[in-house]
Formats: sequence, structure tokens, C-alpha cells
Amino acid sequence: MGFVRMPALSASAPGKAILFGEHAVVYGQPAIAVPVTEVVAKAIITPAPAAPAGSIHITAPQTNLDANIADLPASDPIAAAVRGTIAGLKIPAPPAFKLRVTSTIPVAGGLGSGAAVSVAIIRAVSSFLGHPLPDAQVSALAFEVEKLHHGTPSGIDNTVITYNQAVFYIKDKPIQTIRIASPFDLVIADTGRSTPTKETVADVRRLWESDPELYDAVFESIGKFSTAARAAIEQGNHEALGSLMNENHQLLQKLAVSSPDLDKLVLAAREVGALGAKLSGGGRGGNIIALAAAGRAQQIRSALEAAGAAGVIITKVHS
Ligand code: MEV
Repeated sequence: MGFVRMPALSASAPGKAILFGEHAVVYGQPAIAVPVTEVVAKAIITPAPAAPAGSIHITAPQTNLDANIADLPASDPIAAAVRGTIAGLKIPAPPAFKLRVTSTIPVAGGLGSGAAVSVAIIRAVSSFLGHPLPDAQVSALAFEVEKLHHGTPSGIDNTVITYNQAVFYIKDKPIQTIRIASPFDLVIADTGRSTPTKETVADVRRLWESDPELYDAVFESIGKFSTAARAAIEQGNHEALGSLMNENHQLLQKLAVSSPDLDKLVLAAREVGALGAKLSGGGRGGNIIALAAAGRAQQIRSALEAAGAAGVIITKVHS
């Protein structure tokens, strides 16, 4: 007589790219983000019926985590996602399980790895406990974990990743999805250098504190680009969209979140005819995005690889 063998259960979540409005979104300006389904975070749960109730073992090879949850501090984001889900469901002693977290999303690369890991965990744990949560609750729980990654998240990462749709996002406002009139290709290129969002968000805050009037005006201009970009996407005007990306990148340079290697990739994409290119996410390292005219994505990929990109993803943005 052995234990009944329960099957493993898994949930996954995509990466994301911010098209417009990173950093300004923290200060209440609108931003646009899209899911990137070519990269994914996955949470796999295996029941551990021989272990006492409440016992949870977590492994996450990407971050060298292999520990019992009881030994992890409150600041550990993976443990926090598990604890937040269990507390939210008000289950005092859940059946024992093992959680394995894997991800193909580069860590601290601006593609939403932290939020995707949280969303995958929250979905897997709540399903395992028999109460799969609706999107609004998944996103709200992931937002709590985002606060551990950096103190003042806007909430855009957990929102776009949970809903897996293009969003026009304003902090603390209900989600607005965007209709993509005509699908387009984005080429995403990695500098290979990771920079935690926490650092760049804190640096931008220091800059803003040094001259609130000046930087509020920069944030406002970025917000106007997001609004104009939404109209361009809804009209299928890719030329206008590309120009707005270039303008947004210039203002991100003003916020000192670009870097020589980001600028180099942005220029390399534009030189081979990208309609527009900019850094995406927290910046300093991480990724750039380039908008490709129809049929030109592979050519841009080759140019970015030749310019030293550590990795390139092509994703189609569609409704
Ligand atoms: C991170 O993906 C985007 C930032 O605007 C931070 C945030 O919105 O929380 C840099």
C-alpha cells in the first residue's frame, strides 16, 4: 500500500516588453506594454504526501535556490509569492508540496522576469490548493511581490503579464487593453548586462528630487508619446509608432537610464532600417526593442547580433 500518486501541476507566464513610458509610469504617466510569449516562466508543483502539512520545498535552478520555505526570509520573492497566495486563500496548513521554478526570461533584463515568476507561482499554488484565482487577484498578489523587487513599482509588469494582452496602463487605474489594428514585429535585443530595476528606479527618483519641475516635464512628454503611440497602434500607423519610439528613447537618455551598449544596439537597428528603436524596461543594461517593417525582422536581428547583442528575440505583436 503506497500513497496515491497525485500528478504534477504546472502554470506558466510570459515575459513582457514595455513599448512606451517606462519610468514615467511610476509617476502616474501612461505606458504601453505587450506580452512576449517567446520567453516564459514556469512553476511546477509536485505533491509531497509523505511530508507534514505545511512543508514546502522550493527549487529554482536559475537563481540557485534549493530550500525549505521555512528557511527563507520574508524578502525572498519566490517564498513571498507562495506565502501571499496561501495567506490570500486563508488555508492554515496546506498539504505538503515541492515547487520547482524555471524561466527562460533573462533575470534583471527588463523583460519582466520577476513578475512572470510570481504570476506562474500564484497560479500554480492556487490551483494546487483547489482555488484557482481570477486574474485580478493574481495580478494584485504579484504586485505585492513586485514591491520586494523594487520599492515603488507602477504595477505595469504584473498587469501585462497576468492578462497576457497589450495594455495601455496608468498606475492605480483599471486596465485598458489596446486593439492592434495591424500586427507588427518587434526585435528584442539583449545587451547581456543585467541591471536590477530597483537601481534605475532609485536613480531616476534622485534625479527627479534634484529638479522636480524639469523631470515632471520630461515624464509628461513621455506620457504624451504613450498616448500618441496608442492611437498609432489602433490606426496601424507603424511609421508614426517608430518615430515615437525614437523620441521616447531620447527622453530616456535624459533620465540617464540608457548606456553606451543600449545606444549602440538602438543605432544598429535604426541603421538597417528599423522604423524605430529604444531601450525597454528599467534600462542601464537589459534590452532594446526595434520596430521592424514587414519582412525586415531577420535583417535587423543579424545587424543586432553583429553589433554584439547577447541574445535576440523576434515577437509578433497582435490582438
Ligand atoms: C519596469 O518594467 C518598468 C519601470 O517603469 C518600473 C515600473 O513601472 O515599476 C522602470
